[in-house]
Amino acid sequence: MTDKESRLYGDLAWLWPIMSPPEEYADEAGYWLRQLRARLLEGRRRVLELGTGGGHFLHQLVPEYDATAVDLSDAMLAHSRRLNPGVAHHVGDMRTVRLGETFDAVLIHDAIDYMLTEDDLRAAFSTARAHLAAGGLLIVAPDHYADTFESPYVDDDTKSDGETTLTYVEYSVQLDPNDTRVETVYTYYIVRGGELRVEFDRHTTGLFPIATWERVLSEAGFDVERVDYPVSEDGTPMWLWVCTLRAG
Ligand SMILES: C[S@@+](CC[C@H](N)C(=O)[O-])C[C@H]1O[C@@H](n2cnc3c(N)ncnc32)[C@H](O)[C@@H]1O
Repeated sequence: MTDKESRLYGDLAWLWPIMSPPEEYADEAGYWLRQLRARLLEGRRRVLELGTGGGHFLHQLVPEYDATAVDLSDAMLAHSRRLNPGVAHHVGDMRTVRLGETFDAVLIHDAIDYMLTEDDLRAAFSTARAHLAAGGLLIVAPDHYADTFESPYVDDDTKSDGETTLTYVEYSVQLDPNDTRVETVYTYYIVRGGELRVEFDRHTTGLFPIATWERVLSEAGFDVERVDYPVSEDGTPMWLWVCTLRAG
């Protein structure tokens, strides 16, 4: 199953603001904002986010930056259009989209997890390069690394927006330790209007060692820095890859 078929980004996209509300992104966005403020020259404010989804993360950046958003899922972008009305939104694949304009920074938040192979990563970084001038910034942050991933990974939470109470259980497993893929099954328990509905959803995501990230980003033409990004709830180390496009 591909990301495009994952129900969370299709018929169940209405659950996204309940499952992962915009205000929960302030802590993570603080680390990205620190990098953008420190590294972009005065007046360089144009950012492109690849894989914007519901725009919850992007929402934290729009007060300071002029943003453009790309995502595969129109249903997810519909949330972002409502939340971030000043942002230009485009349906597109981060591996192939070409907007014909350049930006001061390209950001790829958790959507980078949907790159399944090194070729996918290379294609996404080529897209970033195609939208940056020399000296431009790419910041990217996967959720998991092969070096620290413990299979199976299980998580659950309960959230409510007052009308709907959602409990979800996430089960992620690496079926073949030599493969770069992780299979995740979500079970959603949805209580609404006095009724319980249960839905299943399956996602396939990529898992790469830290060394692969460093090599592929460097081969894509970037000077690469790995910056601490201590946002994992269970204390697993995470990093922002802060990358500057080399000239030539
Ligand atoms: C977890 S959601 C992102 C949520 C987002 N960070 C937010 O703040 O709302 C992951 C997103 O990645 C998108 N995605 C997956 N593969 C993609 C691709 N190849 N190109 C563009 N977007 C992709 C999905 O459509 C989905 O909206």
